[in-house]
Amino acid sequence: LLNSRTDSDWEWYGKNDPYYGVVSWDQFRSDQLDEQGRAAFFQAGEAYVRDLTEQIRRLVVGEFCPGRVLDHGCGVGRITIPLARLYPEVVGADISPSMLGHARENCRAMGIGNAEFVDAGEVLRGRLGQFDFIHSYIVFQHIPVGRGYEITQALLGLLAAGGVGALHFTYRRSAGRHLRSRLLPAVYRRVPYAYRLRRLLKREPVMQMNEYDLNQILTWLHDIGCGGVNLRFTDHGVRGAILVFRKQNPASKNEEKP
Ligand SMILES: C[S@@+](CC[C@H](N)C(=O)[O-])C[C@H]1O[C@@H](n2cnc3c(N)ncnc32)[C@H](O)[C@@H]1O
Repeated sequence: LLNSRTDSDWEWYGKNDPYYGVVSWDQFRSDQLDEQGRAAFFQAGEAYVRDLTEQIRRLVVGEFCPGRVLDHGCGVGRITIPLARLYPEVVGADISPSMLGHARENCRAMGIGNAEFVDAGEVLRGRLGQFDFIHSYIVFQHIPVGRGYEITQALLGLLAAGGVGALHFTYRRSAGRHLRSRLLPAVYRRVPYAYRLRRLLKREPVMQMNEYDLNQILTWLHDIGCGGVNLRFTDHGVRGAILVFRKQNPASKNEEKP
């Protein structure tokens, strides 16, 4: 699970442009980020968690109140911090040590004491045990698909019986939108040295945008006994979906009617 070219790309962003690495708008570039920009960045995370919690409580589990929470691909803590304000024990996991360092610093600055930030590999190997809520947003899209599937399966294994997952996957490039972002990856794959040349000129890594097969993911959710999946679409140049589901509690398995 641990070797892939994208890991060093993310450490580059963690070191050089962490907030832009998380939300790629110019106002979050390291050389432009001011107090107002930082506030807007974290407010977006608060609003996202508010909406997601409301969605889970309305449509998936009315009494949703997880004890142990995992935010996979936590970045600088934009979503982990609001999660830690709501739930007792939160783990933020990321592949980039520098992102994890920023997340710890942000928690210190905001007086958050119940969030821990750890290397994603440690979590996937099960060193931190199971979780009652596993969340990941705008992360899988940047991970090569084969590896993303391995991580998905590992995360499903870490979800406690009766636990809730909210995992975001991109599944289709939006027709006509961001032509550049659709064509460039194909050029980099096919034209020798095009990627190296781009790195030399721009001096920053290309963020991969990958498409996942939702059929595959739905099959795994079915296999772990989810009775259903609540799906919310996203579209930021690539179409995606946040899949919200509850892993079956074996104790309630026999209650299902044919
Ligand atoms: C676009 S940012 C999103 C951060 C956060 N989820 C948010 O919405 O604020 C993607 C994050 O995923 C992390 N990441 C990339 N590949 C990863 C992997 N294989 N395992 C864990 N984290 C990864 C990156 O380092 C980066 O912090």
